Amino acid sequence: MDGRAEVIVGAQWGDEGKGRVVDTVAGDVDVIARFQGGANAGHTVIVGKEKYIFHLLPSGMLYSGKTCVIGNGVVVDPDKLLEELGGLQEQGKDRARLVVSGAAHVVFPYHKILDGAEERFRGREHSIGTTRRGIGPCYVDKVNRMGIRVEDLLSPDTLREKLSTNLEIKNLMLSRVFGEDPLSFDEIYNKARSWGKSLAPYVGDCSVVISDALSRKQGVLLEGAQGTLLDVDHGTYPYVTSSNPVAQGALTGTGLGPSAVGRVIGVVKAYCTRVGSGPFPSEEKGESGQYLREQGGEYGATTGRPRRCGWLDMVALKYAIRVNGIDAIALTKLDVLTGLETVKVVEGYTPASGAEQSGTVYPNHSVALAGTTPAYSGFPGWDDDISGCTAFEELPQGARDYLRYIEEQAGVPVVLIGVGPERDQTIRRGL
Ligand code: GDP
Ligand code: IMO
Ligand code: MG
Repeated sequence: MDGRAEVIVGAQWGDEGKGRVVDTVAGDVDVIARFQGGANAGHTVIVGKEKYIFHLLPSGMLYSGKTCVIGNGVVVDPDKLLEELGGLQEQGKDRARLVVSGAAHVVFPYHKILDGAEERFRGREHSIGTTRRGIGPCYVDKVNRMGIRVEDLLSPDTLREKLSTNLEIKNLMLSRVFGEDPLSFDEIYNKARSWGKSLAPYVGDCSVVISDALSRKQGVLLEGAQGTLLDVDHGTYPYVTSSNPVAQGALTGTGLGPSAVGRVIGVVKAYCTRVGSGPFPSEEKGESGQYLREQGGEYGATTGRPRRCGWLDMVALKYAIRVNGIDAIALTKLDVLTGLETVKVVEGYTPASGAEQSGTVYPNHSVALAGTTPAYSGFPGWDDDISGCTAFEELPQGARDYLRYIEEQAGVPVVLIGVGPERDQTIRRGL
């Protein structure tokens, strides 16, 4: 370890397999930190017959002797966090030490109600398809300087003062704008105090914890949630989440400077999926999409919604490599493509205006993106079961050609290959 952290980010629309990649490599590091998003995330980790879905906890919780950090950039729903932690404790699997940043913002019940009410207000045509976990409204409060932070839960007077101002405004919005019932101050205050008591042992300063680890040359992984194309600045706005899942978010979301980061690893699914609304040029609405969904088990880890499925999009991937500064790719779910006669990939777009668009120029404006027609290349598929392969050389010709093509086009190496959902169904080539 060279005293610099590795950032693991989603390079598509989320659900690329970030959790399993983090779990696969977490054994080799000391600190694993989440830096943005909240309980909208669902990171699946499969170890043997056991399946864990992490929403707020970092995907390193199953390892003893590690420190797992929830960074200041995360929005914490304490009910969800305590539920997740309790679940692990019951099974004796809360093996890592947990640190929750005092500066992380708290998701309150009114954020979740507002999330649902705003989605209804947008109507079917314009709704984002949020997870309704209160993410957008909580980040709005943070940026509007009205938010309540984890550290406030520990201080009864500050909490009372902040919550009463906040709830007064929220109740006006709920009742007068959205026609919802106002919420009781006492009920929320008492709940928040009990959250404070339960979370107190975990509250700390994430910047100090991570920087200390780096100065001791310990290994640090910064685990992103969601994906590049859901980034509020660089994604398909407005069909995005309300935080920065790109690698840069790892710095503001934990309190580190750019020189603290060594490699940026982009997690890429061998095809593409998207949950919720928004443009998806390579989406397959017919049989092939259904095939990918069934073979890949593409149903949301948080909401259970069927994921929209389509082909790998090289234009979008090159864009993700540029905006994140991705140094290497972890490619997941290669096994899902087994059995296909042809594996398709988007190589360029023709925008509505007619001029061919390719390279790293990605029309991330959602209207422009929705108007494009993708141009595909096709690769011969393979039939051999690859789920037991442990080395690149063991993969069938078609799979090797597909990987080489991705490396060549992306200009970065594929350093990890997922050939199945379990921890060990991984070919490691430098990660
Ligand atoms: P995340 O949100 O990026 O952590 O990804 P999710 O957990 O939401 O979705 C990824 C899904 O794919 C999960 O069900 C994983 O168990 C599964 N998965 C991850 N890697 C592989 C792989 O290499 N092969 C297969 N077949 N499944 C995988
Ligand atoms: P992980 O970390 C996939 C999507 C929602 C919706 C949009 C905004 O598991 O990859 P939000 O609730 O964040 O306001 O919803 O973002 N979305 C995700 N899609 N994976 C996720 O997380 C997601 N988190 C949010 O479906 O389209
Ligand atoms: Mg997920």
